[in-house]
Amino acid sequence: MTAKTYIVGNWKMNQTLSELEAFFNDLKSTALPEGNFWIAPQLIHIPKALDLTAGTQFKIGAQNSSENDFGAFTGETSCKSLHEAGAHFVIVGHSERRSLYGETNKIVNSKTLKALDSNLLPIVCVGETLEQREANQTLDVVLTQVKEALSNVKLTSENELVLAYEPVWAIGTGKTATPEQAEEVHSAIRATLKELYGELGNNISILYGGSVKPANVTELLNQPNINGGLVGGASLKAESFAALCKWNQ
Ligand code: PGA
Repeated sequence: MTAKTYIVGNWKMNQTLSELEAFFNDLKSTALPEGNFWIAPQLIHIPKALDLTAGTQFKIGAQNSSENDFGAFTGETSCKSLHEAGAHFVIVGHSERRSLYGETNKIVNSKTLKALDSNLLPIVCVGETLEQREANQTLDVVLTQVKEALSNVKLTSENELVLAYEPVWAIGTGKTATPEQAEEVHSAIRATLKELYGELGNNISILYGGSVKPANVTELLNQPNINGGLVGGASLKAESFAALCKWNQ
């Protein structure tokens, strides 16, 4: 397996402009290994984040996008416009989008297709609620989300798509899945990706998200099918984000 490792910061609706400037200035003065270190700031801050990271290894993306191309969709942003603005990737189907804004697997699928169409790399998020876990529905829920999100999604390379497993009960709660709990789901997602994409499915990266922090990142990423982290709270401070980037040092 040669799936790449990613550390992706999902800033959600956090960071003022001055905090963002301080973050990237601090980060640029920190010695980091080479890697796929990505940040999704608030939409309005994407151009500033791109300016501040020009010529560095950091990549900037969006937290959401429209499933439509253009038209009367007040407040929405198209994948094409995100790509034109310089975004590299888009997070699709985050659990907050699913629970607060009613995103269904079908919408997640449309957004994934649209992102690929616009040369934006989709990071497709899946994950079960606590209720579903306690009812032993985790694999059923997660694998259905994966299959429905990827319906009609054709890939020519493993670099076109990233998956993220984020158990809803672990997001922003300080409760992390144990490495074994996470690996169980990641290896089931891996098997599904192989069913869908053959050998290529072996190399698609599957990130874990849900209270990842410098203290637990290494044990999580040491699991065979955990290929990185999608990180909220612990990605907001440069020092902590840098520590995550150095997870294997
Ligand atoms: P958290 O958020 O790291 O703050 O739990 C993760 C996410 O929502 O992507």
